[in-house]
Amino acid sequence: MKKALFASLLSFTLAMPAIAATAFTDGKDAVDYRQASFQLIRHNMGDIQDMIRGNVAFDAERVQRRAEALALLSQLPWESFTIPGTKEAGGNVKPAIWDNLPEVQERGAKMAADAAALLAAAKTAEQAEIRKAFGDFARNCKACHDKYKAD
Ligand code: HEC
Repeated sequence: MKKALFASLLSFTLAMPAIAATAFTDGKDAVDYRQASFQLIRHNMGDIQDMIRGNVAFDAERVQRRAEALALLSQLPWESFTIPGTKEAGGNVKPAIWDNLPEVQERGAKMAADAAALLAAAKTAEQAEIRKAFGDFARNCKACHDKYKAD
């Protein structure tokens, strides 16, 4: 038993170098991290949008689950733009982004605040409230993409 524990601890320790680079220390991982965050944002947002448009039956509990995810996910991508080396690591960004990082953080914080408001609206289960909060949240995307996301 003890031997098995030791062996598994040893293999964990040996495996450490393989995970030493993370999204918070490695420029390329930082690109992957934000792109993955944005994809999850897109999926969770899309489901609410489908319900608002009537493509999927409205389900207040399901809206709330998606809004909970968005409230968390909307906090994630922004830090990645500040990781040393990420500027050189690629991604679909317009070069102007690197001269405007404080503004990018502000836009990120605004989107996270709008996601929190969307969650508050989702908890009321009132469709009119959800629709309005969703519109406010969704406006963040295109405004920033036009400025900083490469096509
Ligand atoms: C503050 C700026 C900003 C805001 C706000 C923003 N984005 Fe983005 N988004 C970007 C940038 C920059 C990229 C390109 C990232 C890269 O490739 O490194 C991007 C990329 C993406 C991608 C592509 C990810 C991939 O796999 O390459 C998706 C999807 C996306 N955003 C969805 C959204 C949605 C949905 C919203 C609104 C709810 C949103 N974004 C809000 C800046 C923003």
